[in-house]
Formats: sequence, structure tokens, C-alpha cells
Amino acid sequence: MKEERIWKQEKSWGHENMGEVIEIGKAVTQIKIGDMVCLPFNIGCGHCQNCESGFTGYCLKLNPGFAGAAYGFAGMGPYSGGQAEFLRVPYGDFNCLKLPEDASEKENDYVMLSDILPTGYHATELAGVKPGDSVVIYGAGPVGLMAAHSASIKGASKIMVVDNHADRLKLAEELGAIAIDFSKAPAVDQVLELTDGKGADRGCECVGYQCCDKHGEEHSNITMNELVMAVKATGSIGVVGVFVPKDPKSKETLQKLGHMDFDFGNFWMKGQRIATGQANVKSYNRQLCTLISAGKATPSKIISHEISLDEAPDAYKHFDDRDKGWTKVILKPGKNAKTATKTK
Ligand SMILES: NC(=O)c1ccc[n+]([C@@H]2O[C@H](COP(=O)([O-])OP(=O)(O)OC[C@H]3O[C@@H](n4cnc5c(N)ncnc54)[C@H](O)[C@@H]3O)[C@@H](O)[C@H]2O)c1
Ligand SMILES: [Zn+2]
Repeated sequence: MKEERIWKQEKSWGHENMGEVIEIGKAVTQIKIGDMVCLPFNIGCGHCQNCESGFTGYCLKLNPGFAGAAYGFAGMGPYSGGQAEFLRVPYGDFNCLKLPEDASEKENDYVMLSDILPTGYHATELAGVKPGDSVVIYGAGPVGLMAAHSASIKGASKIMVVDNHADRLKLAEELGAIAIDFSKAPAVDQVLELTDGKGADRGCECVGYQCCDKHGEEHSNITMNELVMAVKATGSIGVVGVFVPKDPKSKETLQKLGHMDFDFGNFWMKGQRIATGQANVKSYNRQLCTLISAGKATPSKIISHEISLDEAPDAYKHFDDRDKGWTKVILKPGKNAKTATKTK
């Protein structure tokens, strides 16, 4: 049984899923064949204590022994992913978000509701971003860029995005943020200069344990310690970048154990708060969907490539090598290489 579950997981990955419903199970009453739907990357049962409380990223039922299930994701249950022509959706009525009439026209925006837009939004919620706040965001990957977009939608007065990839920082600027390139000068100095020496009101961690120094060396504590310095006293920090309980291949002794050398003294002295974790996508996706439909959220702005499923192996290589310009790739199963287009 266990081998079969692992085999199924390896068979197809992909947790950012959207598509047309072609078949429904007997218990499904709300979703109909022909509906265009977007699926949260986390799968919820809808009935456990966590799902009922809105914590659908921590469902207690669908991945026994662990709080949280997802499609095509290591350790998140036996569910196949959506980098495939067909996908089975458990608890269809609960997990499918039915998209509006303009679903096909705006499919590149709506597909972002499966993960990165709600995750970026979650970072701003965990950080407590309010209208007028200044916000510093570590990471200009898809998640950090969506945190910048969310902070802008929430009415932040100043949004600063830290990274060392010029192409990604340019996208941050296009989303209305100030680019902070840490390869040019220490990010904390740049943020303090932009905030009259006080630090930003809120901070978002959108990098995770694989964060690097300016030489490209991984040290898992960099972003968290810099956030303590770059955020004001009494400010708050939202952490959606992933940190893992064990990382045996790490060169750092502490990181092997999932621990870090964290500047708790300064954190305490500054009276800051931290909140962490998986995005409970279902808590946000309906409202964010309405913002897309109304033209107030346009997450598709960050898409760099749109390709067929056949082209995925090559695209994975570019993405893993962090090749310039490979920011966000959309796979279009069912379309062949000739009909899928590269957007840039
Ligand atoms: N919490 C959730 O629900 C959730 C959901 C999706 C993704 N994530 C996590 O969010 C994180 C970001 O995802 P992504 O897809 O944007 O990743 P990504 O790897 O594409 O982007 C990370 C960015 O961080 C930058 N970076 C590295 N070191 C840095 C440093 N010291 N300071 C500033 N920037 C630095 C990199 O240059 C890169 O552009 C990952 O850890 C991912 O697993 C979490
Ligand atoms: Zn549940």
C-alpha cells in the first residue's frame, strides 16, 4: 500500500491546479460538469476541527498522522498532482472554487488562486499589514511578488522588496514596490534609510530555509535575522517561506536539525511578533477571485512562460538553475507545443 502511494505521488506532481470539470462523484451536489474551477493547493475534508475553523492547510483527516494534505507534494498525502491531463479532486464541493464567466479569458490570473496569490496574501495577513503601513518583503520570487501585490491592494504606503535577481526586482517595481538589491548594499541599511531609521511597520518572509548570502551560500537564518533588524520595534513579521524540521543534507549543524541561530534577544527587546505557516488558501481565494474579476488584482503580470506539458522537463531545468527570466511558468496540459506560447 505504501509503495503504491509513493508511486502515485511520483507519477504526477503539480499543486497549482485549475481546469474544467468533466466528471463528478455521486456525493457532489454543487459543482457541475462543465464548470471551470480552481483548486487550493491544500486539500481539506471540510469537516474536521481545523477545516471548520478555516485552517484548511492543516486538515486533520486527509493525511493521517499529519496536519495538512496537498496534491502532488512530498509528505502531504497520496494525492496525484495536476501536471497531467486529468486530476481527481477529493471532496469536490468543498475544494473546488467555481470561477466566474470570464474564467477562460482570465485563466492566467485565476490559476494563481491555487497557491501563490493566496500565499502572498497570507504573508501580509500574518504580518498584519494595514492601510498606510510600510512593508518589507524578503524574496522576489512568485510568492514575494504576490505579497507585494497584496500589500498594494491592502493600501500599504511603502512596499520594499529584497532580492538580488535584477529581473525579479524589476517585476517588483512594476507592481509598485521599491526594489532593494542586497548584492549592491546590505538590505537592512537600505530599508532603514527608507524608513527614517525606524524600520518597516511589517515584514514578510517569502524565501524560506534556502535563503542565501550575497555569495550564494545558504544560511537558513539570514532572512529571519535581517527581518528583526529591518522591522520597527513593535512591528510584526509574517513567515510563509518554508522552514523544515530536518534538513540532513545541509552543511550547517543546526540546520540539519531544523534549528537556527535566531537573534531572539533583539526580537524580544523590540517587542516584535512572528506568525508562520502554510496558507489556508480557502480562507482567501473567493475574495481574491472577486478582485481578479473586478480587474483589481492581476497576478498574471509575473508570468514569464506559458508552455505545453511536453516542454515541462526542459522548463524545470531552466527554473531549477534559476535562469534569468524564468519567474513563473504556466503549463497548459492538453495543448501541444505549437499552440502553447511563450509570453516573453
Ligand atoms: N506557506 C505556504 O503556504 C507556501 C506556499 C507556496 C510557497 N511557499 C514557500 O515560499 C517560499 C518562496 O516561494 P517562491 O516560489 O517565491 O520561491 P523562489 O525560490 O522562486 O523565490 C525565492 C527568492 O528569494 C530570493 N532570496 C534568496 N536569498 C535571499 C535573501 N537572503 N534575501 C532576499 N531574497 C533572497 C531568491 O533570489 C529568489 O528570488 C518558498 O520557501 C516556498 O516553498 C510557501
Ligand atoms: Zn479537514
